[in-house]
Amino acid sequence: MADIATLILEIIKCIATPTCRCVDYHRKFKEDVEDLKSKLRDLNSRKKDVETQLQVEVCSQKQVKQQVEDWLQDAQRINDEIQQAEQRVDNALFLSRARLGKLVREKIIAVDAVLQRGHFPEGLVVNKPATALPLPVENLEGEVSVKEKIWGYLTGNEVQMIGVCGIGGVGKTTIMKHIHNELLLMKSIFDKVIWVTVSYPLNVVRLQHEIAKGMRMNESLIENEDEQWRASELMRMMGSVKYALILDDVWQRFTFEDVGILRPTTENGCKIVITSRKVDVCKSLGCKIVKVSPLSKEESLNLFLDKVGSDIPQVPELEEIWKAMVDECAGLPLAIVVIARSMKGITDVREWRHALNELRERVKATAKGSEDEIFERLRFSYDRLQDSNIQNCFLSCSLYPEDYEIRKDDLVKQWIDEGLVEELGSRRAMLDKGWTILNKLENSCLLEKGHSEDFIKMHDVVRDMTLRIKSIGPQFMVKAGMQLREIPDEDKWTENLEKVSLMKNEISNIPLNMCPNCPNLTTLMLQKNNKLTKIPDCFFASMQGLNFLNLSETGVESLPNSICNLENLTALLLHGCDNLKQLPCLAKLQALKKLDLFRAGIKVVPEGIEMLENLQYLDLWCPNLVELPSRRILTIDLSNYVKSNHSKRLSNYVFMVGQVEPDFNDADLSKMISLGECEIGGEDSVVLPNDMQQLWIYKCRKFRSLSDIHSLKNTTKLRKCCVTKCEEIECVVDMVMSSFSFIKNLEELWLDKLPNLSIVVDVEGEEATLPHIFSNLKSFWMRGCSRMKRLFPFELLQGLQNLEKITIGECEQMEEIIGWEGEEENHITDAATTTTTFTLPKLRALDLWNLPELKRICPTRGVMVCDSLQQLEIKKCPELRRIPLVGNVQPSPPAALNYIRVWPQELWESMEWDDPNAKNVLQPFMDFL
Ligand SMILES: *[C@@H]1O[C@H](CO)[C@@H](O)[C@H](O)[C@H]1NC(C)=O
Ligand SMILES: *[C@@H]1O[C@H](CO)[C@@H](O)[C@H](O)[C@H]1NC(C)=O
Ligand SMILES: *[C@@H]1O[C@H](CO)[C@@H](O)[C@H](O)[C@H]1NC(C)=O
Ligand SMILES: *[C@@H]1O[C@H](CO)[C@@H](O)[C@H](O)[C@H]1NC(C)=O
Ligand SMILES: *[C@@H]1O[C@H](CO)[C@@H](O)[C@H](O)[C@H]1NC(C)=O
Ligand SMILES: *[C@@H]1O[C@H](CO)[C@@H](O)[C@H](O)[C@H]1NC(C)=O
Repeated sequence: MADIATLILEIIKCIATPTCRCVDYHRKFKEDVEDLKSKLRDLNSRKKDVETQLQVEVCSQKQVKQQVEDWLQDAQRINDEIQQAEQRVDNALFLSRARLGKLVREKIIAVDAVLQRGHFPEGLVVNKPATALPLPVENLEGEVSVKEKIWGYLTGNEVQMIGVCGIGGVGKTTIMKHIHNELLLMKSIFDKVIWVTVSYPLNVVRLQHEIAKGMRMNESLIENEDEQWRASELMRMMGSVKYALILDDVWQRFTFEDVGILRPTTENGCKIVITSRKVDVCKSLGCKIVKVSPLSKEESLNLFLDKVGSDIPQVPELEEIWKAMVDECAGLPLAIVVIARSMKGITDVREWRHALNELRERVKATAKGSEDEIFERLRFSYDRLQDSNIQNCFLSCSLYPEDYEIRKDDLVKQWIDEGLVEELGSRRAMLDKGWTILNKLENSCLLEKGHSEDFIKMHDVVRDMTLRIKSIGPQFMVKAGMQLREIPDEDKWTENLEKVSLMKNEISNIPLNMCPNCPNLTTLMLQKNNKLTKIPDCFFASMQGLNFLNLSETGVESLPNSICNLENLTALLLHGCDNLKQLPCLAKLQALKKLDLFRAGIKVVPEGIEMLENLQYLDLWCPNLVELPSRRILTIDLSNYVKSNHSKRLSNYVFMVGQVEPDFNDADLSKMISLGECEIGGEDSVVLPNDMQQLWIYKCRKFRSLSDIHSLKNTTKLRKCCVTKCEEIECVVDMVMSSFSFIKNLEELWLDKLPNLSIVVDVEGEEATLPHIFSNLKSFWMRGCSRMKRLFPFELLQGLQNLEKITIGECEQMEEIIGWEGEEENHITDAATTTTTFTLPKLRALDLWNLPELKRICPTRGVMVCDSLQQLEIKKCPELRRIPLVGNVQPSPPAALNYIRVWPQELWESMEWDDPNAKNVLQPFMDFL
């Protein structure tokens, strides 16, 4: 907005000159300018909204719609164009009034056009297309003949459908991933190579969706509701490409016609490969069966050695043991990998022997060819995790749907919220601990890599195994991602249940009188059931032990009263519940540590929240929260809240009271307070947290000085302070009235549109503190402070030794940047013979614009020593005559200087120089735009 403001100012100035005569025209022109100004403001707030929304929505599976991207570019282009226009207006003498008027009107139309297009009722993001990337995959050990057989069928003409069968963990998927990646490299064989993980239960809609995505087909297919139409459309489209379709992990029979998969024939040259544990499923689909057998002894040994690492001691005794161990793995690659990993780094022969005995004990009773074969071997690796915390974290991964890629970040947070990570004082420390556990599980190969670094997966066989472990002892009920439309019957909710996951289903309602009796239930995951709108009153009544409840992304409109009695509940997650209108009083949830209401639909702050003594994490980013009528009340609320010491428990917070500065930059939301249109100074001034790092003050009319906010005296971490549009402020900091400690750590100071500001720091009589004031300040930014005359008194310079950037613009009365206390003339005589130097050792950029009265950057004959200075910009400072960068003893430019911009060019020509050489020294750095 800075640029449009300049433009407008310039235009208004221009029309005030005698050359502009026609009054009507002026009025119309003024109106047009106002119109442009307001339209551009609308456009930029719309743009900002879109950008903010995108920050929330874009993730690894979602990308910005092209249409939205184009619009953002257009909006930016319009802004740029208006900025350029501003520069043309700077040369307004050359522009006729008529052209100026035309220019403004053209821009209005252009801005309007972009603004009109800035609505995206169908959303801003789309799913990322499946870019057929190579799948991450382990090295393939052995299985050469099987692979060659499949490859032969794929490239030959005899077989169109191949069924790759074998028991879980034998390596079917791994073989197919290798083949998939090789097919991608050999582009000439198929037009499209598509991989779909099918899993149990088969979801026809998702299958169609994935195939269409893999074919990069028209998106409207996915959106159409009519299943049959979709099937026939998919089939039609598949007819136009020669495809290879790999369906991994198929469990159930289905017909190609129902899905819309075009049958491969010798004529069309297409192929389908199905992997399944079930031979009969492959047969029913008409596949040629390729059986994947366990690895040979030698292959097993190679794989084992590869995974266990090269650091096992080469002693004959040990060799015996690990050979025996490999024998126990029955040639199952998955078992070999996880067992080898669990032995990695162990060098003690006795420990190896012990492990071998344990493994034999596990395997003893299992029948060959049964599922137990692999389970018991995996179980051995699980037991070897030893630490029960780590085991529980591992087990909790099985609460997610089969073949689901879990975001690592979410998983770690869930562990913490479930109480599986030991209490360590700070959330940061617990996150670190959580990640350590995650890495350990990944290294043990009990969890697999996802499609990107941020995700992790549980092998379906491993998941089956963990659910079996649970069914022996304590209980899990996991029906995640199973397309359930109804919640499991009450009799399934047995008393011994500990964890229940029903996440990612289509459960729409829970029977009215349902009241599961599960006193031992600690974790309940109901998230991602967006059709679920109501939970019956007594649903939670017999779940007193519940401590983790995730209801995020459900359609719930209210929560039942029975939730109030969950005295052990530590995490209540209602992230993205935009239908949620009502919450009962939360005061009794005394154990609650985390309450996530991000984007919930509530209009008022939940009752009883202030009673939650243990709350550590609160997200109240709720777009519908209504403002209370009086600002005064708001600041008192904030003050009372801060006085309660509750905020000290928060590792981060953002409090925005009242209106938020429209140009507010939300890039860095750490420990921030924003106060808009509030009463904050004076008698009972607002109380702010001592560890606050950023303070934004916007349009606070009666605000006079930061020194009036008494509680600032005790803040020690304040890094950034922005004061905007406060009419009465005269002095930012008054040293007489306050201690300087709170500005000691300040790194950034922004002062914008403060019409009465005349002094930044009043240091009257406090000289002793001078070297410390602003001693950490890096960036100073000031605009539109029309009463400022002298920015920094000479004395203050001692403190500014870390200043890197100074930007000052539109201050109508500003005469000097650095000056003597009192009148300039008094000092001239003293300094007539000697040169005074002013040192700002870290200053990199000095930017001065539109300062009509600016006469001096530093006192007459003074020289600024700025060895780090890279850029100097001086625009529209018509009275400035001196650039004090080059002394007369040994004229040389600042060492780091990159460029100087002076505009208009005449200003450069009219500069006066102490030394005739000085101009020549600087001339090479001039950049006349
Ligand atoms: C996508 O399909 C719809 C309906 O079949 C059609 O109207 C639209 O033009 C298609 N779009 C493209 C880009 O092919
Ligand atoms: C709760 O569920 C949401 C939606 O699936 C998920 O994004 C979030 O990570 C979950 N929270 C925790 C702590 O598990
Ligand atoms: C609930 O947990 C306790 C402690 O682990 C156990 O003793 C009890 O048998 C469990 N109750 C049921 C019904 O399984
Ligand atoms: C709540 O948690 C405490 C401590 O873990 C436990 O002793 C108590 O039995 C729990 N209450 C219920 C109702 O399960
Ligand atoms: C907050 O903490 C301060 C100092 O630690 C203490 O004096 C004050 O009484 C506390 N306030 C409350 C409401 O506990
Ligand atoms: C600042 O801290 C001191 C000592 O902890 C305390 O006495 C004083 O009341 C605090 N001042 C304000 C304004 O909070």
